Amino acid sequence: MSVLVTGGAGYIGSHTTYALVDRGEDVVVLDNLSTGTRALVSEKAAFVEGEAGDEALVRRVIAAHGVDAVIHFAGSIVVPESVAKPLAYYANNTVASRSLMEACVESGVRHFIFSSTATVYDENARQPLREDEPKNPISPYARSKLMTEWMLEDAARAHDFKPMVLRYFNVAGADPKGRTGQSSPRATHLIKRAAQAALGRVPHLDIFGTDYPTPDGTGVRDYIHVSDLAEAHLLALDALRAGAGPTAYNCGYGHGASVREVIATVEQVLGRKLPVREGPRRPGDPPTLISDPTRIKTVLKWQPRHDDLTEIVRSALEWERRFNA
Ligand code: UD1
Repeated sequence: MSVLVTGGAGYIGSHTTYALVDRGEDVVVLDNLSTGTRALVSEKAAFVEGEAGDEALVRRVIAAHGVDAVIHFAGSIVVPESVAKPLAYYANNTVASRSLMEACVESGVRHFIFSSTATVYDENARQPLREDEPKNPISPYARSKLMTEWMLEDAARAHDFKPMVLRYFNVAGADPKGRTGQSSPRATHLIKRAAQAALGRVPHLDIFGTDYPTPDGTGVRDYIHVSDLAEAHLLALDALRAGAGPTAYNCGYGHGASVREVIATVEQVLGRKLPVREGPRRPGDPPTLISDPTRIKTVLKWQPRHDDLTEIVRSALEWERRFNA
């Protein structure tokens, strides 16, 4: 029995791979290394370089490793890039996921955990967001994810197939043991960019939009520590193996921070000011995204252990220093 982790050389995938091997699971990582880093994959996991959408390859990996569950992280995640290159996003996120699902259904792999996003919800949905709020994604990225959710629902109705969808809010921070962290040189996340600005790797941090309908005019997000998110995947896996049915779960803490609040936290940890430049809104960005995590806490018994923006920022800065060195 082993777990196939697609995108396991990436940010969230590498953290989850460590969490899995730390508790003694056999893991095989499948990653095309387009944005992932081989060195971030635990040495205890097997590694295959290739595409998650390569059905024949996936079938071979499933057979060779006795895979009973797939955790599907592989995909493209940058909202503005998806606005510029929608077809690339549909190919890499939606089309590849369909092929991966087909390989699972044909090979009899029933347990499937999918990385979805908080941005599938309607901009006017009630916040904090519950899983049953209306969906109306505005970016091609988010649409590519919602389409995959729909395929999973349909496949679950038609086949002996049990998918679970985890809708991530804003994932940040790094492994407390320092083994992995956000390593993409082209990363666009706020906390990653702030860490880069703090270390002088980029000349300044841009604030994208100061005229949002939020308390201080900047975007508000529910920042969740990547280790708490990795833990959510273990709980989802346990629930599937225990016979749980298909469900979607929000993964966030239930409270938000604005861009200015994040900057203030970084400055407090650093003990100095960050170089900041105010600019226009970024296309595809909603004003506020805050999770209602009641379902995941109640059903999966998820108990976050790192719900602290200062801890998140500190771990991101520590990783960035190490990564630089
Ligand atoms: C992130 C994820 C997306 C996920 C979503 C869920 C990435 C690249 N994107 O998107 O996959 O589905 O969370 O909520 O991980 N900002 C700045 N300056 C910057 C960067 C960002 O002001 O240099 C602002 C943005 O306008 C936004 C906030 O910071 O208000 C967070 O942005 P970002 O970290 O890029 O994440 P999201 O776009 O929310």
